[in-house]
Amino acid sequence: GLEIITDKDQMRKWSRDMRAKGKTIGLVPTMGYLHEGHISLIKEAQKHTNLIVVSIYVNPGQFSPSEDLSTYPSDFQGDIDKLKVLPVDVVFHPYNLYDYGNIESESKCNDPISSGSGSESGRSGVVSCVEDRKLGHETWVRVERLENGMCGKSRPVFFRGVATVVTKLFNIVEPDVAVFGKKDYQQWRIIRRMVRDLDFAVHVIGSEIVRDADGLAMSSRNVRLSPKERERALSINRSLSRAKLAAENGQNSCRDLKDLVTQALLEAGGIIDYAEIVDQESLEAVEEIRSPVVFCVAARFGAVRLIDNMEINV
Ligand code: PAJ
Repeated sequence: GLEIITDKDQMRKWSRDMRAKGKTIGLVPTMGYLHEGHISLIKEAQKHTNLIVVSIYVNPGQFSPSEDLSTYPSDFQGDIDKLKVLPVDVVFHPYNLYDYGNIESESKCNDPISSGSGSESGRSGVVSCVEDRKLGHETWVRVERLENGMCGKSRPVFFRGVATVVTKLFNIVEPDVAVFGKKDYQQWRIIRRMVRDLDFAVHVIGSEIVRDADGLAMSSRNVRLSPKERERALSINRSLSRAKLAAENGQNSCRDLKDLVTQALLEAGGIIDYAEIVDQESLEAVEEIRSPVVFCVAARFGAVRLIDNMEINV
């Protein structure tokens, strides 16, 4: 049966007991509100390990005070119902991974961090929901080059928050294998690099993007799209597919390929955060396609920021 663990010491004990019995453990980190994309990661993990842990934790460390932490969708009972019928052994659902046993350590995004301590840190705009408190969290893992571009530009605290919470999860769960979706391509590359650079004993696997029948990449945020916004958001996948096809047919000018996508997104009323063609490993922008690249897009439709990407191997 499915076990729900909320305490981190209990989580680590479970893992160590299972390891002592010769079992291997796969971890699928999530922020809940599970959909088929998350489920596909569980199925991938199942190919590699005996036991599966799914973590459900909306990580305040990767949200800035101006972002959508407090309105991030959640449905814990619905998530459990979905996981019950799958080969999942444990749901790790901590209440607060930044509570180290002192009263002041808990902070919420709604607290006026920006009015005061944010500027005290001298890094205004680079403040997350869990730091700059007298007794708050102050240790961060940063993947210094990979975290800079694309999503890192508009969300300066995001990737160090992700790298840090994934480090915490790896230290608590001690998995043999961890599975991440290529939907969040930059995140996946950052975690891989972190694991290599810091010698984590975890094998990181990237899993393919799962899309709805109409082509929209699945995301917990999609529920916030109105039917009209959703229809307009299909321009992301459609234009990326056209660009990929054009590249496969010999179009190798990234400027032309990016024009194709940005025009389609603008015509659909999207507000573009970025549309970049980058090297699959280094995530550095390329001008001409000569090696494996990935075309990454982030755009807003209404109030909803969506990301998507397509690998192009020519
Ligand atoms: P979350 O957005 O819940 O995503 C959890 C995992 O599901 C990530 O690895 C993500 O890439 C994957 N995923 C989401 N949608 C997908 C789709 N349509 N197809 C394939 N995989 C998909 O990403 C996070 O949470 C957090 O940043 C986390 C890694 C848990 C750290 O807090």
